[in-house]
Amino acid sequence: MNNNQIKVCLVSEIPDNDMRCISLEDRNVVVANTAAGVFVADEMCTHEDARLCDGNLTGTKIKCPLHGSRFDLLTGNVLDDPAEDNLVTYPVTVVDNVVFITTER
Ligand code: FES
Repeated sequence: MNNNQIKVCLVSEIPDNDMRCISLEDRNVVVANTAAGVFVADEMCTHEDARLCDGNLTGTKIKCPLHGSRFDLLTGNVLDDPAEDNLVTYPVTVVDNVVFITTER
């Protein structure tokens, strides 16, 4: 399996302790700029159709705007019902203010 590095955005485009949804060529992601670092995950909640960037960010925990399930961006793990599936997160590298993720081709 080959890995692919994709440029996502600039760190400076995401305010501290905030998040944005960003469309990439082959997927849509949410980027969170936390005190613990920058995290990137799939933008859609694993429960139903809700964009997680429309929810709330507390530390590394992101809360879905629709039914309130939270996910920990450190692991992608789901923390509350009704969502049951973990969130897909991506390995992040920051070089000179540029956020990259590594995906499998
Ligand atoms: S759509 Fe996110 S918890 Fe239901």
